[in-house]
Amino acid sequence: MQRLLVFVFFSLMAATAVRAQLSISGGSTAVQESIGRAVTLTCTYSLSAGYTLREIKWYRVNGERDPVLFYYPGQSAYTYGLYRNRASLVNTDDSAQVASLRLSNLQFSDNGTYECLVGALNGQPAEESVQIDLVALVAPNDPVITDEYNNGNLTMTCTAYTGNPAANLTWTRDGSRVYHDVAENITSWRGYLDAQSIISVTASTAQSSTFQCVAQHPAFTAAQRASVTVGSPTVSTVNINPSPVPGEALQELDDIILTCMTQEGIVPQPTYQWTLDGGNVPASAQAYRNELKIFSAQVEDSGIYSCTARNDFGSDSGDATILIAERDTNIVEPQTGSPVGSVVGGVVAALAFLVLVAIVAFAWWRSKERGDYHTAEQSPEEPTAVVSTEPEDEKDEEKLNLMEEKKEEEPEVKVETQGEGHAEVAKKPDPDQTA
Ligand SMILES: *[C@@H]1O[C@H](CO)[C@@H](O)[C@H](O)[C@H]1NC(C)=O
Ligand SMILES: *[C@@H]1O[C@H](CO)[C@@H](O)[C@H](O)[C@H]1NC(C)=O
Ligand SMILES: *[C@@H]1O[C@H](CO)[C@@H](O)[C@H](O)[C@H]1NC(C)=O
Ligand SMILES: *[C@@H]1O[C@H](CO)[C@@H](O)[C@H](O)[C@H]1NC(C)=O
Repeated sequence: MQRLLVFVFFSLMAATAVRAQLSISGGSTAVQESIGRAVTLTCTYSLSAGYTLREIKWYRVNGERDPVLFYYPGQSAYTYGLYRNRASLVNTDDSAQVASLRLSNLQFSDNGTYECLVGALNGQPAEESVQIDLVALVAPNDPVITDEYNNGNLTMTCTAYTGNPAANLTWTRDGSRVYHDVAENITSWRGYLDAQSIISVTASTAQSSTFQCVAQHPAFTAAQRASVTVGSPTVSTVNINPSPVPGEALQELDDIILTCMTQEGIVPQPTYQWTLDGGNVPASAQAYRNELKIFSAQVEDSGIYSCTARNDFGSDSGDATILIAERDTNIVEPQTGSPVGSVVGGVVAALAFLVLVAIVAFAWWRSKERGDYHTAEQSPEEPTAVVSTEPEDEKDEEKLNLMEEKKEEEPEVKVETQGEGHAEVAKKPDPDQTA
């Protein structure tokens, strides 16, 4: 209510302001900074002789104006809402004529337009304001390519999830720039942007071609790439995990994972088939993509496992031999010490006991001498909590802040770097489980 009155009051004042006596300027281009960092929104003003600074006010312009920071000369600055304790003025020396705002621990929710307002007095009030765009950079996930094959038509979709702004995606084919058929920036989870770019090719004419999707983003230190090659799969090896010691068997009841290794990024995405000695794999085995998981392996699960990777261009197989031995159930005998060891052990134990007795006796004697039987010194009574001097409504606002900050908490997911690296570790979930 109070704020509304203040607002109405100054709105009326603005109408009668003498504009020529005060000029203000902010950055002309949007300010960009990565989340978690500190950022400065530059705003300077100049007052004609005889004018004095009345106030500096910062608002977030989001349909309406929400207060961020208010400053009146001679007082300390007030900060509001989610900006409390995060916003400050760069310079409160009035003669510097700087109204710039510093915002620490930049959040994605800070992204938007801000207004810097400066009020001055010389009998008549004057007031000027300028708007500044702030882009809170959020590095998107590395790009991923999914593909779909339909009657000879191969469609490849590249997506870089949850960035701000969206990543800039471009395609190359064998190193040369090619153009997408469809591109979109999709507003996704909580307002982050998924960049998506799709190309379709006639699969037969694209055989052996390598397609790369290149993602650029101001929060990336280097472009991130995803690449696929059109062709038939080649199986290089079948990995066994846990990997057996050469010449030794795996143990009964082990969980074993076999992985059928093909070239990376081969499209169309192959399907995989598994056999054991040319027949069915054990009923307890689960096949998923290029993996076969054998849970609680049995001796009879031993044999030659073959995988066949197949797509519309062809197929290839590879195998691995697995030997599973009965689990060694012999209880390991505790080591019995040698006679010499026992004697030495006994002597050491006896000495240790004597030392302990001596220490206890000495401690008892000391305390008796000093007559201090009482325990640890009692600390003076703790003062009761200091009663807050904050007005009630301010405390409520703080509670609200806390609640809002809680809501903002997100699981932390590390963005993987492919050697080239990101500038940022973004806080967001990984929406991509399809790669
Ligand atoms: C971030 O702020 C800029 C500048 O005001 C604006 O153009 C853009 O739409 C905003 N983005 C989001 C996701 O709100
Ligand atoms: C391939 O499929 C895509 C998506 O279904 C379609 O837009 C495109 O026209 C098709 N291209 C050819 C050559 O058939
Ligand atoms: C996107 O990247 C391409 C290739 O590097 C570049 O030519 C283009 O200017 C970029 N677009 C934007 C909006 O950054
Ligand atoms: C998506 O956003 C990026 C970066 O802001 C821009 O380069 C690209 O042109 C946008 N794409 C579309 C289809 O709007």
